[in-house]
Parts: sequence; structure tokens; C-alpha cells
Amino acid sequence: MISTLLSQLDGPDGDRTPRLAYGADYNPEQWPREVWEEDVRLMREAGVNLVSVGIFSWARIQPDRDRWDFGWLDEVMDLLHAGGIGVDLATATASPPPWLTTAHPEILPVTAAGETVWPGARQHWRPTSPVFREHALRLVRTMAERYAGHPALVAWHVSNELGCHNVYDYSDDAARAFRDWLRARYTTLDALNHAWGTAFWSQRYSGWEQILPPRLAASHPNPTQQLDFKRFSSDALKEYLVAERDVLREITPDVPVTTNFMVMGGTKGMNYPDWAGEIDFVSNDHYVHPGPQDRAELSFSANLTSGIAAGRPWFLMEHSTSAVNWQPVNVAKRPGDLARDSLLHVAHGADAVCFFQWRQSAAGAEKYHSAMVPHAGADSEVFRAVVELGQTLKALAPVAGSEREPARVGIVYDWESWWASEQDSHPSALLDYRQEALDWYAALHTLGIRADVVTTTTDLDRYDVLITPVLHVVPAPLAKELTRYVESGGHLVSTYFSGVVDENDHIWLGGHPGALRDVLGIRIEEFGPLLEGDAVELDGAATGTLWTDRITVTDPAVDVLAHYRTGAYAGRPAVTRRAVGRGSAAYVSTRLGAEGLAGLLPALLGPAGVASELPEGARGSVELTVRRGPDGRFLFLVNRTDESVALTGLAGEVLVGDTDAGGGLVLGPRDVAVLRRPAT
Ligand code: GLA
Ligand code: GLA
Repeated sequence: MISTLLSQLDGPDGDRTPRLAYGADYNPEQWPREVWEEDVRLMREAGVNLVSVGIFSWARIQPDRDRWDFGWLDEVMDLLHAGGIGVDLATATASPPPWLTTAHPEILPVTAAGETVWPGARQHWRPTSPVFREHALRLVRTMAERYAGHPALVAWHVSNELGCHNVYDYSDDAARAFRDWLRARYTTLDALNHAWGTAFWSQRYSGWEQILPPRLAASHPNPTQQLDFKRFSSDALKEYLVAERDVLREITPDVPVTTNFMVMGGTKGMNYPDWAGEIDFVSNDHYVHPGPQDRAELSFSANLTSGIAAGRPWFLMEHSTSAVNWQPVNVAKRPGDLARDSLLHVAHGADAVCFFQWRQSAAGAEKYHSAMVPHAGADSEVFRAVVELGQTLKALAPVAGSEREPARVGIVYDWESWWASEQDSHPSALLDYRQEALDWYAALHTLGIRADVVTTTTDLDRYDVLITPVLHVVPAPLAKELTRYVESGGHLVSTYFSGVVDENDHIWLGGHPGALRDVLGIRIEEFGPLLEGDAVELDGAATGTLWTDRITVTDPAVDVLAHYRTGAYAGRPAVTRRAVGRGSAAYVSTRLGAEGLAGLLPALLGPAGVASELPEGARGSVELTVRRGPDGRFLFLVNRTDESVALTGLAGEVLVGDTDAGGGLVLGPRDVAVLRRPAT
């Protein structure tokens, strides 16, 4: 479906071959009519071929319950079409208008402490409110009927960043829907009482109506109730997404439907791997959080988005040309960042590069957020960089529609484990699930080794090495699956606090990590979390923080790769590996950080024969990804550093990038090169 969409984006001469999409959120309602003409002219100059319109337009489109105002939007759609620009049309339901919240305050979300979340910002609606849904779906239907045949319409954009501000709602609507969800999951109260371990603290339920969301409580709320509430809250939004999608599919069955995910640091409420199958293509929004690992994080998020999209192309629906407005300090991007950040997403499978937003607002909460056309206007560095990127994306048209060529190493990212491992009343509140996964990813980059970030819904057998950082929740079937993976020659690498609980957050008894004990050939009697600032030394130069384990080796096929040299467990195993036929199962019991893991990885990857595909001088500075399609294999080489890097010995047609006199590729600071090789 993505290829059809991409071929609808008109080329300069009406050429219908697929191309990469380029554009932004476009909010013309913030501007007088005369600006719109200039917008379309500048969009053409920049090579923009796709914009998302109407995302926050509800109050403008429907000024009152029975009043509609489509004239302005009709005109915008016509203008864009005349300019050869496709529209990803929003359903406009993201921010309910004041007339609706005044008439129906019962759609407003409620916090765990029972406070109402009032209107005044956006997304102030309960995912489970039947009243909200009735009004929202009426709007969706009206939009779909009005624009069904409009030639500018190329895709539907459901709501906006579902769950960004309203994933957790503790209202009475939520309580009712939570009970229905629990009935569907457990059928009987006995089953629920068992799963939630309600024998503890006199929590046994004798009627469904007694069950509530985990509202503000006197002490730690029941952990399984919390975990189920997370599952339920993600499902409630997914169900809402499906409700909008169904209306759209009924009226415009041929127009693809998407919604913009937020796979990036700080967002964890929505189980996107579980949502991805409900839409026609995955879209993601990503914003850089400046810091030492910022581009590693960008790459990780883009890679994970590709995993969620099952390796198929996806849309980067939003990122920023420069600063955002919502961080404590909003740092401007440096020259080269705009293009490099964009192309790093393309390297990981994005077939669209879009920004929030087209024209920087003069008023409102986001007026300091950068845009494609900044406050300074078109005569600006930012706009010139925008135009240049438009040219580069044109040169990359052959990439459109190509898929990710799997790496040999997979890093498993599991929402259930993310949610469960970071709950309260655990051995350590310092555990950071995402950071541990990111550290492994960064360590592999240091060694110049490609890795795919995948989810537990992926076919794991395609990977020679599977790294499962903090895979905390391991239900029996997953334990079996991982054991089979190792027995059939796979190399599993697991870490601290993995395999500890089942799907009900009940401990696997008999010594940790119960679900993986046998395959790892170790037994842990007690966890040894470390205080903030404390560290232990391992053999070699490695230093561990955060966590240690009291490990006993239980199987003669286990090699101890490193012992603790200091700390309470000095002399005991810290890193182990059990050989199983051609496969192996390794365990890393402490947090080594990206640097420490880079030191350890060769020993873990060696048996699988995984080595870098990059020339030695480029490892750790250049990131390599490969996309593959009918038009070729595309090697993306992204300079993650501020130094120039020369790359020799890489053959291929240069689609983007500079070469030296000898034909070698030269990547300036923050540069990207793309090579095409014949499809094999
Ligand atoms: C208190 C309570 C116990 C238990 C312990 C845990 O002593 O009385 O029920 O919660 O704390 O440390
Ligand atoms: C999100 C939203 C946009 C905008 C940007 C700002 O991605 O979807 O509407 O608020 O953040 O960074």
C-alpha cells in the first residue's frame, strides 16, 4: 500500500514512479488566507510532496454541535492539489473543542488522585468515554464523506500521537471498561484473584464491581493490577484507533490509514508492536533529546520502529528541523544535523521525512518550536537546509519501498518486560529498561556491527545472536521458544533481572532466573542491587553498576567469562556462557554500560562468527544500514561524529555522497552517503 501511496506523489513531470515523501504538519488555520499561496509556492521550492492537514482543526471545522465549516479546508485541499502536494488528512479528533467539553465534562480524563484534567491544552479526552467516541466518530464520518473523492487525499492520519497525554485515565468510564477487559482476560473472578495474588494484603474480590483502576492508594498498589492496567490502557487506545479506522475503511476502502506512533525516549505507555497490525503502514514521530547518546538514541528508535513495522518501510511523520519547545533547554540543531537526522531515519526504513511543522507558529504554546519555514522566513539557513534535503530525497527515490535487510544480531525489545521491570517495590528503582537496551545497541555500533531492534512478535530464528536485555517477563511458551532457539544453534545473550516472572508477574520459584535457569545453567539465590554511585570491578577492566547477582553455576558446560573482583560477590561469576551444541546461552549479571559491553561483546559474538562489515577505521563513527528492494541493495553510511571519515573499499554507485580522487567515499562531519549495489 505504501508503494501505491508513494507513486501518487506527483513528480515534476507527472511521473508516477514511487518517490520518498517529504513534508510536514501543515496548520493553515493559524494563518491568514494570503499566506497559503506563499506556503504552496515555498513547498514546491522545497520539494515538499506530502503534508498532514487538520490535526488540530476540530473547533474550526465544527464550531458547534450542528454547525460545520468546511469552506476553508476545501480551499486548502484544492490549493495543495493544484501545487502537486498530496494530503495525509487528519481525522481532526485529537483536541476536542470547548463547546464539547462544556456540554460534556464527563469526557475529561481523571488522574490517579481523582483530579479532573481540564481543557486548555489538548488531548483532554478519555479513551473509553462513549460520549467522546460518539462525537469523534461523527466527525470522522463527516470528514471521510466530504473528502472521499478529493484528488489530494493520499492517506488518513487518525487523531494524533494517541496516548501522548491521556494514556492513563482513572475515571469511572475507565473503571467500567477495565472490568470488561478483565472479564475477557480472566473469565472468572477466581482466575483474576489468582493472577493478581489477592491473598496478599486482604485484596480478594468477591464481585467484579469491586475492582478499580490502580487509583492513588495508601501504599504500593497491587503489581499485577498495575501491569494489567497498563495492558488495558494500551488496548483501550488501540480499540479507539480501530473504531476510527473502521469508519474510514467503510467510506474510503482504498485510502491507507495510519496514525503517528511515538517510538522515542520517554514514551512507553503504548504497546506499538501490538498496534502495528491495525493500520496500513506505521508512522513515527521522533525528537532528539540532546545528550551524549542522542544520535544513538535516534538510531535505536528508528531501528525499533522498523522492527515494529516488521522490516517494511514506514513514515517519519514528525521530527524537528531544529529546536523543540518542550525540553528544559531547547537546543538548536547544528549545520548538517537536519539532513543527517532525517537520513538516519531513511537508513532505518523511513519512506517519508516529515517535520512538525511547516511554518513556525507566531502564537500558541509551540511558537518557539522550529519548523521548515522559521520565524525568519524563507531567507534563512533552516529553509536553505530544507530545500537541500528536498534535493537529496529526490536523488534517493530508488530507495522508496525497499525493506530492511536483516542483520545477524537482534536485540529484543519487549513492552511487557519494560512495563513490569520498572514497577515499584522492586530490588532497585534505578533500573532503566530502555537504557540497558540502548547500551547494547551503542556497544555494537562501537564495534561497527549492525543489529536489528526487534520485538517478541518477530521471527527470532533469523538471528544468529539474540540479545535480550532485562527480559523480565518470560511466560512458559517464551522460555520454551528461547530454549529451542539455543538448542537449534542460536546464541542467546541475557542480562540481570531477566526470566524472573511469568505473565502474571509471579516469581518463577526455585532460584532465579526461573524461566531461563536451565538453559543458562546457573542459579541465583539473591539479587545484589547496588546503591547509586557504587560500582564493582570485574576481571579485565570492566566495571559494573546498578546490579549484581549471587550466581552458582549448575551445569558443567558453563564457562565463567568474568568474575567479580570486588564487592559482596567477589570471586563469584559475573558473566557466564553455557555451550549448547552449536549454540550458547550467556548471562551478564551487572550493568556494564556501552563501553563495558563493547569490551565483552567480541567474546559473545565470536562463537557465532559475527564480525563488522565496515572498514576498521570507520567502526564506532560510521553507522551502516542496508535496505533491499527490486531496484537494488542500498548501503547507508551515516557519520555519527563531528570528524571527517574516509571510507575505502566499498563498491557501489554513489546515490548520495562525496568521493575523493581515488574514488573512496569521504564523509564530512555528520555526513551521510548512500551506495547502490545490484539487487541479489
Ligand atoms: C511493615 C509491615 C509489614 C511489611 C513490612 C515490610 O513492617 O507491618 O506488613 O509490609 O513493613 O518491610
Ligand atoms: C508532537 C505533536 C505535535 C507537536 C510536536 C512538538 O510530536 O504531535 O503536535 O506538539 O510534538 O514537538
